[in-house]
Amino acid sequence: MENNRYLTFALGKGRLANKTLEMLEQIGITCEEMKDKNTRKLIFVNEALKLRFFLAKGPDVPTYVEYGAADIGVVGKDTILEEARNIYEVLDLGFGRCRMCICGPKEAGELLRHHELIRVATKYPRIAKDYFYNKKHQTVEIIKLNGSIELAPIVGLSEVICDIVETGSTLRENGLHVLEEVCPLSARMVVNQVSMKMENERITKLITDLKQVIGVSGKER
Ligand code: PRP
Repeated sequence: MENNRYLTFALGKGRLANKTLEMLEQIGITCEEMKDKNTRKLIFVNEALKLRFFLAKGPDVPTYVEYGAADIGVVGKDTILEEARNIYEVLDLGFGRCRMCICGPKEAGELLRHHELIRVATKYPRIAKDYFYNKKHQTVEIIKLNGSIELAPIVGLSEVICDIVETGSTLRENGLHVLEEVCPLSARMVVNQVSMKMENERITKLITDLKQVIGVSGKER
């Protein structure tokens, strides 16, 4: 029986979505509609392949996938850990590589070593809490911020931050250092748990095809 159901992709807006679309093109999945930079449309369709795509704020992608509004999502591992939704993480796409780190001025290293009660500013309170409470067994005060996290230790809001480090230039330019590494991060493909069963064939094929592309570009790196 022909499957007329659309497979829906939720992509985290920005660089992640662009890289994902490039990768999908390499396995023959295109979405011409989405390339129009001036469009105000929110949802894009490839009728021939029965695929739909939409762009969402990164932290909302796991939500769309958990509730089945999207079958598949592409989002950073940081967001997956922070949102802790009931979804399957099926593939490391290999791009958007960076690290979640505890950073601060050099002197703060001593406070970490002695398990002092310090303040940790972060956009990722769940990740920070898990790291300090469950892995390090250190009691800290976590302060949630929404961006420009590096400001916090500079202006005296916190001793350290728990944040993403990619090139390290934001830290360098602000006199801060990586003090401890929490975990490596990259873009991941996530799948709704029911879709994984109902659309197993199409999703498995997609994963297999993407693995080939990742394998090739992985060797080039
Ligand atoms: C991220 C992160 C760091 C910076 C790290 O911030 O929070 O601030 O990038 O990159 P680097 O190591 O290459 O300097 P983003 O630009 O996403 O904005 P935000 O500060 O508003 O979170």
